[in-house]
Amino acid sequence: MKTTAAVLWELGGKWEVEEVELDGPRAGEVLVELAASGLCHSDEHLVTGDLPIAYPMVGGHEGAGRVVEVGPGVTEVEVGDPVVMTFLPSCGRCSCCVRGYTALCDDGAGATLGPQLDGTYRFHARGEDVGQMCLLGTFAKHTVVPVKSVVKIDEGFPLHLAALVGCGVTTGFGSAVRSADLRAGDTAVVVGIGGIGANAVQGARIAGCRYVVAVDPVEFKREKALELGATHVAASTDEAWNTVSSITRGQLADAAILTTGVADGDQLQPALQLVGKRGRVVVTALGHPGEETVSMSLLELTLYEKQVRGALFGSSNGQHDVPRLLEMHNLGQLKLQELITREYSLEEINTGYQDMREGRNIRGLVRY
Ligand SMILES: NC(=O)c1ccc[n+]([C@@H]2O[C@H](COP(=O)([O-])OP(=O)(O)OC[C@H]3O[C@@H](n4cnc5c(N)ncnc54)[C@H](O)[C@@H]3O)[C@@H](O)[C@H]2O)c1
Ligand SMILES: [Zn+2]
Ligand SMILES: [Zn+2]
Repeated sequence: MKTTAAVLWELGGKWEVEEVELDGPRAGEVLVELAASGLCHSDEHLVTGDLPIAYPMVGGHEGAGRVVEVGPGVTEVEVGDPVVMTFLPSCGRCSCCVRGYTALCDDGAGATLGPQLDGTYRFHARGEDVGQMCLLGTFAKHTVVPVKSVVKIDEGFPLHLAALVGCGVTTGFGSAVRSADLRAGDTAVVVGIGGIGANAVQGARIAGCRYVVAVDPVEFKREKALELGATHVAASTDEAWNTVSSITRGQLADAAILTTGVADGDQLQPALQLVGKRGRVVVTALGHPGEETVSMSLLELTLYEKQVRGALFGSSNGQHDVPRLLEMHNLGQLKLQELITREYSLEEINTGYQDMREGRNIRGLVRY
């Protein structure tokens, strides 16, 4: 079939919204008609080269829609089912999946390389095969994805809100609740208040943190963080240190979560200084693959038993966490509408990313 997609053709290029050819679903795949897609910073990494990929690629990895066709052997979902697409598949059988670490599923290993799990391509344009970001490619009116990447959700849940749970909400919430292991009474610092950090703030609040300190140089972000549950805000990690030191009487934070646009080795030591004894620094933001130098006090690490942890999808388990987060929204515990700063048509996607770069959005959302 023919559909419309935003394709990135080269490093440093713009998203080109054009007609593309989309093959039908093969074994274990489903064709989804998209309702909405969030504009996550991870797709910006494809433009800047912070995430190396093969071009061309249909971007987007945070979306929801309805199944319109199923491939051979698919029994998990039916035509008409509303689904959230998660940016990592889960096979349920590999070593990490069976231990419950489904974000680390072996099938996710090549998710940013372009082709589907069988090595072939579903999208084609200008006579070339076109890859799919995270096996999804949600910057398209229709896409074909592995059934292992979709989570069936309740009929009636607004799909444009559900879309955000495919990456940002689950990643941010999980970074606080799972990766940082925050508990009632703890103190958390979240560094960088975009779509991910805003949800780390919500996660920390829901976990029962006593103090949630949100750090961002942009004033609008700090205001939003307060609306989403931060108790204090700071414009820099230095400023945050003074606040955290004072409110905790020198004990410092239990966790600092890095959710800046691009992770940088220089961000580690300031984050490490924000946490106290047995404190965790959680690195959720993605750094350039060439970024291998980190400055960090090894003595502090040892003497205070501090820890540095990576977090993929907030160490979440899509099939379990996505429906639960939607239910938390239904109960008024988790905010979703408030995360959407502005909606765009697919044709306006470059404006959406410009707004993200300039700090104007918590999350931009493409509505189809
Ligand atoms: N680990 C994962 O599973 C995963 C999943 C999704 C996204 N990510 C990554 O998370 C990061 C955040 O994504 P996003 O969509 O929220 O990005 P975003 O661009 O919407 O937000 C980033 C925020 O960080 C702020 N910021 C930048 N430098 C800062 C600094 N030095 N101190 C404090 N704040 C700073 C910006 O002002 C902005 O508000 C990206 O690197 C993205 O690729 C990781
Ligand atoms: Zn994302
Ligand atoms: Zn697996």
